Amino acid sequence: MSVETTAAGQSAIDRERISQLTEREMARLTERTPASKDRYERAVKVMPGGVPSSFQENDPWPVYIERGQGTAVWDVDGYQYVDFHNGFGVMCIGHANPTVGTAVKARVDLGTHFAAPTDGSIVVAEELTRRFGLPQWRFTNSGTESTMDAVHLARGATGRDMILKIEGSYHGHHDAVMVSVYPELEELGDRNDPDSVPYGAGYPRALTDLTRAVPFNDADALEAVLSKLEGQVAGLIMEPAMMNINVIPPVPGYLERVRELTAAHGVKLIFDEVKTGATIAYGGATQRFGVQPDLITLAKAVCGGYPGGAIGMTEETAELVASGKVHQYGTFNGNPLVMAAAQATLTEVLTEDVYAGLEQTNERLKAACQEVVDRYGLPAYTEGMGAKGCVIFAAEPLREYRDYLSKVDGELSTLAWLYHMNHGIFMTPGVEEEWTLSIAHSDDDIDHYMAAFEAFARDVTSS
Ligand SMILES: Cc1ncc(COP(=O)(O)O)c(C=O)c1O
Repeated sequence: MSVETTAAGQSAIDRERISQLTEREMARLTERTPASKDRYERAVKVMPGGVPSSFQENDPWPVYIERGQGTAVWDVDGYQYVDFHNGFGVMCIGHANPTVGTAVKARVDLGTHFAAPTDGSIVVAEELTRRFGLPQWRFTNSGTESTMDAVHLARGATGRDMILKIEGSYHGHHDAVMVSVYPELEELGDRNDPDSVPYGAGYPRALTDLTRAVPFNDADALEAVLSKLEGQVAGLIMEPAMMNINVIPPVPGYLERVRELTAAHGVKLIFDEVKTGATIAYGGATQRFGVQPDLITLAKAVCGGYPGGAIGMTEETAELVASGKVHQYGTFNGNPLVMAAAQATLTEVLTEDVYAGLEQTNERLKAACQEVVDRYGLPAYTEGMGAKGCVIFAAEPLREYRDYLSKVDGELSTLAWLYHMNHGIFMTPGVEEEWTLSIAHSDDDIDHYMAAFEAFARDVTSS
């Protein structure tokens, strides 16, 4: 996401050099994208910031895209890029995937919406059950709706109000989770009992106060908060591997202890797999890390480029929905077009056998980036898993949000993004983001990425 995070680390790289190169590369991007500028000037008159979602804002303006095919995208100025952004991690199937396209086109001719169940939703729910190990599923239209419903279910199941989340995590834009998303250093409060910081305006303080943050990768801190709030916490919502402050994997044993502690305190464990589901393993983080939560939230890659999401739950929780105790609604839930896309994506494209290939391509890209980091002495390291990865501009590995804030060199990261864009790599904007590979990425695409990254490394370290 392109958000103003306050990653404020400063590496040993010469600040003057970073600043000169940033100015030069920003001027290049500006010169290359006059048609985007025109679109922006039109768009800003009718959409705040000239974009449909604030995460699409960018400096000097967003690069407006015309079309995509496989790993290629073309902007409105006619430039071709290799896409590593992939729509914030959605397009793991590659752009204009013919299998998904055929399934969706066939569905179009049969009617696209009835607000009555169709076969597609049964097939997709069966497939999600197989992949993620939870027996019951409902559908939504986005990751935000999935996490909102999961919070309702945790509260409905426990009769408690309080929600715990991980400091520095994003779970969509509803009231319960727009808390301690990207707080600034001076807002954080005590690490073991952080302040609840609203992410922008528009959220009643009373609701913000019902969500408390805990640090990632620290089960002792979680245990202390659960003991302090005994009997009050409905659920803990978390990404099993953090993917909105670069990629931070769980330390060994952490997720297992989180599972034990939440169970012991009667707290529902919600794995937000909006980013990890269908991208880091056949059965997402749940399968990859071998820890079974009570609820799983999905969206992004599972619907192959269409706006859908899903929530997985236990039989016990499903009974709350089936009995009407907790209301889970939506006119477009299980929309036949989205289900056709999800069915083709999950059963024909992102099948079990493709994950080894994604992992292999990712390992190759990570290793090549690490080799350049080492050769040029950059204060950085590579991290990632499955289809996801990034170069993190910090001299030592991050374990939690406070590390991200204090150790990541945000200016260096922004400069790397500019180099990618100016060298034909469409890269996720924002210091906090990562790349997502698709099944279409080839060795040539990786070589192209590396040429851009090496140009950056060479220029920024040469005196
Ligand atoms: C982990 C996570 N959860 C939830 C969401 C919200 O998903 P959506 O943008 O589809 O509402 C996001 C979006 O980036 C996310 O990264």
